[in-house]
Amino acid sequence: MTRVKRLATVAAAVGLLLGGGVGAATAGTAPDHGVIAAYALAAPTTEVPSGLVARAVVPAGSSCPALEISARTSSRATHRSFAMTQRLAPATTGAAFASILVCSAPVPVGASTASVGGHVIPAHMPARVQRLAMFGDTGCRIESTQVQDCADSSQWPLARLARSMATQDPDAIVFNGDFFYREAPCPALDDDECGSSPPPVASLPITDSAYGWIADVLLPMAPVLPTAPLIVTRGNHEACYRAGNGYFLMFDPREGTEGTCAPVLGAKGLEAAATLPLPTYAIDLPVTASRTLRLAIVDSAGGSDTEVTSYAAQQRPAYEQASRLAAPAAGRESWLVTHRPLYAYVSSTFAKPGKAFDPWTSRDQAAAAYGLLGNFALVSSSHIHIAQAVQLPGLPGQLVLGNGGTLLDPAVGYALPTTGQVVGTGQAYPVPSSAWVDQRFGYAMAYPNAKAGSWRMAMLDHTGRQYARCGVDDRRIFCANTGR
Ligand SMILES: [Fe+2]
Ligand SMILES: [Fe+2]
Repeated sequence: MTRVKRLATVAAAVGLLLGGGVGAATAGTAPDHGVIAAYALAAPTTEVPSGLVARAVVPAGSSCPALEISARTSSRATHRSFAMTQRLAPATTGAAFASILVCSAPVPVGASTASVGGHVIPAHMPARVQRLAMFGDTGCRIESTQVQDCADSSQWPLARLARSMATQDPDAIVFNGDFFYREAPCPALDDDECGSSPPPVASLPITDSAYGWIADVLLPMAPVLPTAPLIVTRGNHEACYRAGNGYFLMFDPREGTEGTCAPVLGAKGLEAAATLPLPTYAIDLPVTASRTLRLAIVDSAGGSDTEVTSYAAQQRPAYEQASRLAAPAAGRESWLVTHRPLYAYVSSTFAKPGKAFDPWTSRDQAAAAYGLLGNFALVSSSHIHIAQAVQLPGLPGQLVLGNGGTLLDPAVGYALPTTGQVVGTGQAYPVPSSAWVDQRFGYAMAYPNAKAGSWRMAMLDHTGRQYARCGVDDRRIFCANTGR
C-alpha cells in the first residue's frame, strides 16, 4: 500500500469513528473487524482510573471495533459499548506498520466482563493477586550470523510456554521486556529454520514491522493474552533503532506514546530516534485487604551493559522516581521491575581473549540505580537468557527471568563472582553472598505467603513442569532446583 493510500485508509477509519461509530455497536451486532489480537495492559491509575487499557490489533482497511463492557450488580446487569481510538504508527515508519490498525480504550471502572470483536479480554485489575506470572525475552532470534529454529517448538517454545502459562490461571502477568528478535532476513542457508520469517523493511532504520510482531508476539502469545492484565516494560530489543515503534504502538500502556521512537529525517535520510528512558510509573496489585504489592516500572531499554557511560546520568531520574514511588507506606511492599538487571552476571564463556573478564551487568543501569534501592524488596529483570537469582548483602534480591523462549545463553561458566560491581569512584556494589543459576526455557509463578513481604515462586519450564522453587523474604531471594 502506498503512503497516500494508507493515509486515506487511516482517514476513513477515523472518519468512521467520528461520524457516528462511537458507541454505536451493541452486543451481538458488532461488525466483525477481523481482530488479530486483543489484550489488556496495566496502566498507571494517574492516567486511567481503572488501571487497565484495552488494546486491539486489526487489519488495515478495517475500523476500530467497540470495547464491549458489562457490569453486574446484585440487582441488575448493564451493557455498554465504548469507542476505541486508533494509535497511529508514525508516518516515518513507512510500510512497516501499514498492514495493521492498533486500537485503544481505557477500560471503565466497574467492568465485570470485556470483549473486543468477540475476543474476551480482562475486564479489571485483580482484586487480589494470588498467582503472578513472570517472564521475559521471548522472540525467535534471527540475525545474519545467528539463527534460532523458529520452526521447531522445542527450540523456540514461546507458543507452548504461553499455553502452559494460561493453564496456571494467573491474576496478572509481568513481562520483563525483549519481545522482538526477528532483526534480519532469514539467511538463505537457514531456510529450514526460519524461512517463513517476515524480514525488516530494508529501507528503514528500524528492525520491526507489523508482520514481525505478529510472528514473534501476537501469534505465539495468543493463549495467554485473554487470561490476565499484562504489566509490561520494554527491553533493549525495543530500543528505537530496533523494535521500539511496534512496542510503543501496541504495548506501552500510556496515552500518546506511540510516536516515541518515530524515525527522524537527518542529514543522510531517515535515522532512528534516540533511545531515552520514559518516566517511571507504578502498578499496585492488592494482595489482601491490608497488603499491596507495588511494582515500579523502570524503562531500561538504553545504556551500556559493559561500562558506565554518560547514559547513566540520563537514566538516574527513572530510578529516583522509582525510589520515591516505593517510599515506605503501611501495608505496602515494592518490587522494582526493569528489563536490564542491576546486579546479575553473565557466563565466563563470553570472556574476550586478552581482556580481563568482568561478569557483572548492566553497568549503566547499576550506576544509575546506585544508592536508590533501599525501598525495594526485589528487583525483577530479564535480559540475560537464563534464570538467575543473586543476593547482595543489604540489597534486594535480584531475579533474572530471561529464559522465556529466545535463544538461551551458555549453560556453563557461572561461578559466583568474588568481587563486587564497580560503578564509579568509590562506588561499588557488595560482593554477592549467594546466587542460583539455571539454563532452560521457562517462566515463574509467584504466590504470596501469609507474612507481609514474603513470596514463594515456582520455576516452571515451557511445558509447565516445575524445575526449581524460590522464596522472597525480608528482601532476600533464595532458589533451589527441585530435582524433578
Ligand atoms: Fe534478551
Ligand atoms: Fe535484553
